[in-house]
Amino acid sequence: VIVVHGGAGERHADDNARQAQGGCLVAARAGHAVLEKGGSALDAVVAAVTVLENDPQFNAGRGSALNADGEVEMDASVMTGDLQAGAVAAVKGIANPVQLARLVMEKSKHVLFSAEGAHRFARAHGVPFVDPASLITERARKRLASLGTVGAVARDKQGRLAAATSTGGTTGKRPGRVGDTPLIGCGTYADDEAGACSCTGLGEAIIKVTLARAAVDRLRSGEDPNAAAAAVAATLARAKGDGGLILIDAKGRFGLAFTTKRMSRAWVSSDGSFGSGFD
Ligand code: GLY
Repeated sequence: VIVVHGGAGERHADDNARQAQGGCLVAARAGHAVLEKGGSALDAVVAAVTVLENDPQFNAGRGSALNADGEVEMDASVMTGDLQAGAVAAVKGIANPVQLARLVMEKSKHVLFSAEGAHRFARAHGVPFVDPASLITERARKRLASLGTVGAVARDKQGRLAAATSTGGTTGKRPGRVGDTPLIGCGTYADDEAGACSCTGLGEAIIKVTLARAAVDRLRSGEDPNAAAAAVAATLARAKGDGGLILIDAKGRFGLAFTTKRMSRAWVSSDGSFGSGFD
């Protein structure tokens, strides 16, 4: 089972939201193809998020929101249900930050690299750099409402869970600002004994309520994932923010919730059935 989101937001026009819903389904199918062949949940979520990072309509990879200096500065993380995690923050000129986050998890003893340290790590591992200008779209330049952070959660045939999240952050953010996305327990969390979660929305609020870990913890008692997602999403209001999340439990049941008007998303289940939505 794989579930993906293309971000929560208020201001998207219907046409844009419908297009984002389609983009989410393409990504979910890419992740599901990996699972069908016996690939791991980690392979699946990274494949799905890579598709979303490459799709310029989303606020991740190419199409990322610009910071106050007019630059793209991205955050991403991955986590597997055996409690391994990797993340990067404030990286520039990297086409697929989710893949760099995976490398941090697999090739370093650390969890999170930021800015120049992340760039040095990327160079040391042969990760290609792209012209930072190539990640900037006309839409981002015009500061139109960006369609939001992207993410995926999956359960593979062996019952392993994984989650991944990637973002350009908030439009006009101060350079160096880091949101919830690369922070394990905030934007992303996975534990094979409970569930996996990827979040979207105002990072400053998500961090304060440690949204992803709070959601996964509610699954430990067998709570329905939709009920758990709704309960934790409601806590964002106390931190004066909005957002949403996708959630999968150890049995492969999934749920989602958002406090914004819209959140584009799609899923493909183990029997090949699929769905998508935005409102
Ligand atoms: N949730 C993405 C961010 O605030 O950076």
